[in-house]
Amino acid sequence: MKKIIIAIDGVSSTGKSTMAKDLANALHYTYIDTGAMYRAVTLYCLQHGLFHGDILDESALQQIMPSLSITFRLNPDTHKAETWLNGVNVEKEIRSMEVAGQVSRIAALGFVRRALVAQQQKMGKEKGIVMDGRDIGTVVFPDAEMKVYVTASPEVRARRRMDELQAKGDPVDYDAVLENVKMRDHIDMNRAESPLRKADDALELDNSSLTIAEQKAWLLDQYNRITAHTNS
Ligand code: DC
Repeated sequence: MKKIIIAIDGVSSTGKSTMAKDLANALHYTYIDTGAMYRAVTLYCLQHGLFHGDILDESALQQIMPSLSITFRLNPDTHKAETWLNGVNVEKEIRSMEVAGQVSRIAALGFVRRALVAQQQKMGKEKGIVMDGRDIGTVVFPDAEMKVYVTASPEVRARRRMDELQAKGDPVDYDAVLENVKMRDHIDMNRAESPLRKADDALELDNSSLTIAEQKAWLLDQYNRITAHTNS
């Protein structure tokens, strides 16, 4: 069967990546988490002292950008893809609060986006991928055969994020998490470079009241419908 490109975009804390991973597993496709790539660049800046308080040394980052190596490797024990930066496994470090606090700034830089988008386009050359992010259906693969734009209400997302943080043992306040969810939406949708928006031809999935199983069934239905069409 002909392989396709599946682009999954949407606001944060919608469970996009879990959904994209599940779909990739079910189809034997490769899953690519583009947020992890922006997080890896941010980690590099933190580790190499490129942030001076609130100021980022953009020219140093611009110089180093072409030689940064960001790859995904399968962990043989967990069977999950993990993020490597310059030959070092950084999967855990890129999920830290410190990285989360700075990554939107890094993701707003045009030269960073251009470099990462070029790498993402290379990764998708052979098709058979599920890629999740914010600009996959609009910028990285505007011709993707299947595009999904995922949303859920800010309140539902804040509740999910809280459950996640509490499970990790982080004490959190619901109102603060809700504020953070709304602030990140605002930054993602209003930045000058590739703002988050639904591609005109994307299917919209509001998963506020869907279970994971219902969501998976919906995605597979859409995939079957689209591939029946592309293979005919
Ligand atoms: O999905 P995430 O939370 O891991 O994404 C981290 C940050 O990177 C977030 O600020 C959005 C940004 N991002 C982006 O601008 N474009 C992408 N394709 C993926 C993520």
